[in-house]
Amino acid sequence: MTKLSVNINKIATLRNARGGNVPNVCQVALDCEKFGAHGITVHPRPDERHIRYQDVLDLKPILKTEFNIEGYPSAGFIELVKSVKPHQVTLVPDPPEAITSNSGWDTVKNLDFLKAIVADFQNVGIRVSIFVDTNLKNIEFAAKTGTDRIELYTEPYATNYPIDKEKAVAPFVEAAKLAKELGLGINAGHDLSLENLAYLHALIPWLDEVSIGHALIADALYLGLEDTINRYKKQLE
Ligand code: PXP
Repeated sequence: MTKLSVNINKIATLRNARGGNVPNVCQVALDCEKFGAHGITVHPRPDERHIRYQDVLDLKPILKTEFNIEGYPSAGFIELVKSVKPHQVTLVPDPPEAITSNSGWDTVKNLDFLKAIVADFQNVGIRVSIFVDTNLKNIEFAAKTGTDRIELYTEPYATNYPIDKEKAVAPFVEAAKLAKELGLGINAGHDLSLENLAYLHALIPWLDEVSIGHALIADALYLGLEDTINRYKKQLE
């Protein structure tokens, strides 16, 4: 079964726009779980412009499903994640000022750096996933870091899907096949939507997890959160 982890950054963005506590990030996370999400993802950035470090601390004791924390492994991020001990940490290479993650790791160049960080998290019992593109060399070297999983950066798939979906998915299938051969678990995320999710899953049914934020929260404006989560889960059946 492919799990749906709901990324709740956009809820925090909305809350922060007014400075109060509406919408309540923790309550929304609990409601996502109640409506059937298999996990909750957050991406605390150093400027705390959406999810704050305090949100991460507040969420940990109340969540009942899988907690996934994404981010660039700065000293502050590593300290936060190790203190919170989520089920999974997803390492992304984006610089602090990036609007959103916009590339995967160059795992060849960062092999030693990633190896040390992966081991550090695994030593305290946290599963590690590394965000990568479909370059097969990056997948091969991701395995050398000792990571448990990779997360495929699906933005290029989502962009090209409306033009030629078979062509768009092909590199992802190839990358996912290699990752499977190498014994890696596979997550996927970025710009996945009700339009493009089912096809990706049909071609890569061995995906462990998808993490979805932007499109899902936007759909919820029209459909409501419960209906939206159910529709996304249906795409994964
Ligand atoms: N995966 C990673 C590593 C991300 O940085 C993000 C965005 O925060 C997502 C998945 C979710 O992407 P989207 O918001 O486009 O669904």
